Amino acid sequence: MATKKIRIGILCGGKSVEHEVSLTSAKSVVDALDKEKYEIHIIGIDKSGAWHLRDSSQFLRHAEDPKLIHLSGDKKTVALIPRDERKEIVSFTHDQFGPALGLDVIFPILHGTYGEDGTVQGLLKMAQVPFVGAGVLSSAIGMDKDVMKRLLQQAGIPTARFITLHSHHKDSVSFLEINEKFGLPFFIKPANLGSSVGISKVKSKEAFLPALDNAFRFDRKIIIEEFISGREIECSVLGNEYPLASLPGELIPTHEFYSYEAKYVDPEGAHFKIPVDLPEEMILKIQKMAVEAYQALCCEGMARVDFFLKTNGELFINEINTIPGFTKISMYPKLWEASGMPYSELLDRLIQLAVDRFDKEKKLHTIYCPLC
Ligand SMILES: Nc1ncnc2c1ncn2[C@@H]1O[C@H](COP(=O)(O)OP(=O)(O)O)[C@@H](O)[C@H]1O
Ligand SMILES: [Mg+2]
Repeated sequence: MATKKIRIGILCGGKSVEHEVSLTSAKSVVDALDKEKYEIHIIGIDKSGAWHLRDSSQFLRHAEDPKLIHLSGDKKTVALIPRDERKEIVSFTHDQFGPALGLDVIFPILHGTYGEDGTVQGLLKMAQVPFVGAGVLSSAIGMDKDVMKRLLQQAGIPTARFITLHSHHKDSVSFLEINEKFGLPFFIKPANLGSSVGISKVKSKEAFLPALDNAFRFDRKIIIEEFISGREIECSVLGNEYPLASLPGELIPTHEFYSYEAKYVDPEGAHFKIPVDLPEEMILKIQKMAVEAYQALCCEGMARVDFFLKTNGELFINEINTIPGFTKISMYPKLWEASGMPYSELLDRLIQLAVDRFDKEKKLHTIYCPLC
């Protein structure tokens, strides 16, 4: 007897500067999913935030070009409706609800705000659908560099020294004070963003105020952080209760730092070394710290943990990404591949982890009755 296929919804696109990266990742995932095992449904979120159901075989235009890639015009507006037992995507046009499409699991492949920051995860949790990756709390923590770094510090995990500034206190900080504390250069970053958007490396007094203004264009909270001169190392982590770390990799930016231009505009913006060339002892130290950070930040499913490694061997965590780039050539799956886990097996594991977590949460009591 043929086993029933798992109905998976791929949530991609989204209202963020990483819309195109998300689509490229989604294409890789759709191509690699075992069609014998999965029935694939694409839920493309356009740049205005609207959700549309699309055919998995033709959901993209210019799919091979990372700059021109976009969602196809063929679409049906859908909404996620919470149900008692079954989790459903219900299609609707204006006020007319269409037939429900039951899904067993959703894979959000969305980067940045409204995707990686806990908002979509909250929606999926409300709708009682198992979903791949970090939950609400860890997604939100991972997105907020201020909260993330405070939790890392509390766990005794080294990160660059930093201060946090809210927009209503913008004028309370001076270049002199920061220069005294961190020296030059230093970094200014929006607290909640990604893709290096709004980030500046400040090298002079003149650059300070424009950098501050630039970061505050994107968030009401920013961080100012000491510069760490070191190699950029990344490590993939996978799992719920018992997370595993992959072999680490290295990214070598060809720009001043790994800026938006280096990430997305210049095809030669960085070189990747997978796996990294480091002594065994250091690799083990990186893997151990990656798992410690993952757990300190309450992560589940997956995350990519990014480090700075100084020449004296000191290791710092820069940040965690709870929905890392997921194209076939992205660091997260490439590191697993280098560690012996092919892309499609990684997808199977992530989906299984999502279902396991959901099943455990479903068993929790949702009512309290002192007499029963
Ligand atoms: N404290 C720092 N010292 C040195 N380089 C940094 C520092 N913070 C950020 N960078 C550089 O800026 C890049 C982007 O910063 P990051 O904090 O990772 O932001 P994002 O979340 O946008 O990726 C890093 O990959 C690195 O090249
Ligand atoms: Mg980064």
